[in-house]
Amino acid sequence: MASMSDPAITVNGEPRSLAGVPAWTSTLDWLRGIGLTGAKEGCAEGECGACSVLVARPAADGARWTAVNACLVPALTLDGQEVVTSEGLGTPDALHPVQREMAERGGSQCGYCTPGFVCSMAAEYYRPSRGDGFDLHAIAGNLCRCTGYRPIKDAAEALGAPPADDPLLARLRDPAPAPVPTRVDGFARPADLAEALTLVRERPDATVVAGGTDWGVEVNLRGARPSYVVAVDRLPELRAFTADERGLEIGAALTLSEAEAALDGRVPMLDEVFDLFASRLIRNSATIGGNLATASPIGDLAPALMALDAEVVLASADGDRSVPVADYFTGYRETVRRPDELIRAVRVPLPVAGISAFHKIAKRRFDDISSVAVGVAIEVTDGVVAAARIGLGGVAATPVRARATEAALEGRPWSGETVRTAAEVLRGEGTPMDDHRASAAYRAAMLGNSLLRLWEEAA
Ligand SMILES: Cc1cc2nc3c(=O)[nH]c(=O)nc-3n(C[C@H](O)[C@H](O)[C@H](O)COP(=O)(O)OP(=O)(O)OC[C@H]3O[C@@H](n4cnc5c(N)ncnc54)[C@H](O)[C@@H]3O)c2cc1C
Ligand code: FES
Ligand code: FES
Repeated sequence: MASMSDPAITVNGEPRSLAGVPAWTSTLDWLRGIGLTGAKEGCAEGECGACSVLVARPAADGARWTAVNACLVPALTLDGQEVVTSEGLGTPDALHPVQREMAERGGSQCGYCTPGFVCSMAAEYYRPSRGDGFDLHAIAGNLCRCTGYRPIKDAAEALGAPPADDPLLARLRDPAPAPVPTRVDGFARPADLAEALTLVRERPDATVVAGGTDWGVEVNLRGARPSYVVAVDRLPELRAFTADERGLEIGAALTLSEAEAALDGRVPMLDEVFDLFASRLIRNSATIGGNLATASPIGDLAPALMALDAEVVLASADGDRSVPVADYFTGYRETVRRPDELIRAVRVPLPVAGISAFHKIAKRRFDDISSVAVGVAIEVTDGVVAAARIGLGGVAATPVRARATEAALEGRPWSGETVRTAAEVLRGEGTPMDDHRASAAYRAAMLGNSLLRLWEEAA
């Protein structure tokens, strides 16, 4: 196991040293550098899944093999953790069931994508509640350029349950490795929030990293080489989930997959976001806090959280403060968060509104960036709109509340006429631009259509 001075990852059952590895080295580059060349680089930006590997992550009753994009996860953030690559699943003489099905059903031709596919498939193979089914969304983040997807789908759907004596199945009965604090040149993984807050106050040059799905792209494609990195992805205070009758508090370092599991359907609008947010592979690393911290005008969580009247909880060495998500963004990729503050959690008040929807308009239905995103929450009492909250993404330099449209709905009968009038107002909200994703006119039209669609769905 790793220590403060000797970081290491257990790969395929064997401890492998991380000594001398810079903070920006991805798990993929590190694995390939130590001779484990199964995982491939196809894109280096989370789009193809050729780099997929398995990490043992915490689960309620032990551990869970979780597939992640190794090209985006910094190797040092996995200090003390357990990783399985395609080499650790099986060997040419003793193929893993996933590898055997892929080979026998013609799921592999040039083979470049295959190690990534088998790791994503293995994560689903070992999912405890899978039964005999196979959720094909588990491989939605993996691309194949030669085989075609039918044989791969056939291989996935042919998989039975793992045998009881399968060693990777047996491993899941024990807890995932606890996070270990790490301190090496240029990189720190603090043990707790207090230490993290002291570090970010003392080191204004610190770059905070959580799941790495945004930061990894900066490193791989835009050459980011920060002088000091502070990893917050395993901080226990950022990974809590609490619920009472007044509301839910979702830890900032929970991944979207973990938040989805913890919420367990309590906030239908967020379930719609999760389904449309990137791929399962990305959602297994991408965190709630990371999505808000990037302050992207096309980030998916902000419009939904605005509609839910949620608050961002910011922590600093001086204590916590809460800011409504609607007041959090101040300009293009700017927020009220000070450099010495971390996002600790997001608070969603309960009960949630009776009518809600999240509409993401993108070029592809799944695994694409929004052109426009709309979160709507409407409470109707005795046939009258008692409250309306609408959050918009992709129509201004920041995510925005559609306040004029909310005013056009509130206090009016919940009727087709009210909705049609409000849809016209919504078409004029924000200051949409023409860009390579969509024209301004298209974006404006989609806003109005979103409300009309909600009415049709709710009626
Ligand atoms: C292929 C691909 C598809 C994507 N699809 C979508 C999509 O559909 N919708 C969408 O909204 N986004 C998408 N993204 C963007 C990205 O996945 C999300 O923004 C994600 O939530 C970022 O979280 P992270 O933990 O990976 O952030 P990181 O990359 O670790 O960090 C991002 C930024 O947030 C800061 N940060 C992280 N955590 C904290 C914290 N607790 N406190 C303060 N600052 C913090 C970091 O300093 C950094 O500046 C996609 C990315 C990729 C690569
Ligand atoms: S190399 Fe394409 S997702 Fe990692
Ligand atoms: S088998 Fe060639 S890319 Fe998939």
